[in-house]
Amino acid sequence: MNLEDLKIPTHVSIIMDGNGRWAKRQGKPRTFGHKRGAEVVMDICRDADDLGIKYMTIYAFSTENWNRPDLEVKTLMLLFGKYLQICYDEAMKNNMRVRIIGDKSALAPDLQEKIRALEEDTRTFTGFNLQIAINYGSRDEMIRAMKRMIADCQDGTLSVDDIDEARFGSYLDTADIPDPDLMIRTSGELRLSNYLMWQHAYSEFYFTDTAWPDFNRAELVKAIEAYTMRDRRYGKVRKDGDYV
Ligand code: FPP
Repeated sequence: MNLEDLKIPTHVSIIMDGNGRWAKRQGKPRTFGHKRGAEVVMDICRDADDLGIKYMTIYAFSTENWNRPDLEVKTLMLLFGKYLQICYDEAMKNNMRVRIIGDKSALAPDLQEKIRALEEDTRTFTGFNLQIAINYGSRDEMIRAMKRMIADCQDGTLSVDDIDEARFGSYLDTADIPDPDLMIRTSGELRLSNYLMWQHAYSEFYFTDTAWPDFNRAELVKAIEAYTMRDRRYGKVRKDGDYV
């Protein structure tokens, strides 16, 4: 398919799976895979931006990932610290807005400070939007949202009658961010793993056997090709008003 025939999704969400298995296949520790995975993230951000995608949300650490071995959790936290710095520099250069979704209160204070600076200093940027899910779980997000809604109802700033889908969405970590059009999961697993369950209600899903460290621009284009074909196949009204 020619690039100009692609229907570019506004928002792509990604489950970056398979770092551990990728490293193991090469006889290396799992943490080696995470390091390579972190490098791939920035390349894919640039490719996504270049293709015309406006928002990308990546699943870096789930609420369940704390159960991994201590060394792996520590390595991932160190990687996030380093990566947030790289992200900051990239954001300044490219007008990129960065937001972190998930429960930040459980993260180390230095990481929380880096996140605060990154979010604050890129708040007005109008280029590519990157959301990084750290200590994120969809159920946890919905419960946190619900508690805030109940508190607002109790202090009178929210009325129960005003609660609808849009209002609920505004209490989620993704408030103001459009729902993903396309969700990509690498490395062969066919699960949602507690990722953006509210936001993915109408998203197209694309699964690939490619491990995240091997994911690249060509793989991203393949996913968008599949997305383009689905849109053509499933009864959407075409520009000329005819049905496919
Ligand atoms: C899944 O691979 C990946 C993760 C749990 C973490 C994702 C993290 C990165 C890609 C690197 C860091 C990211 C940033 C933003 C700096 P897995 O460990 O579950 O692999 P496996 O399924 O093969 O075991």
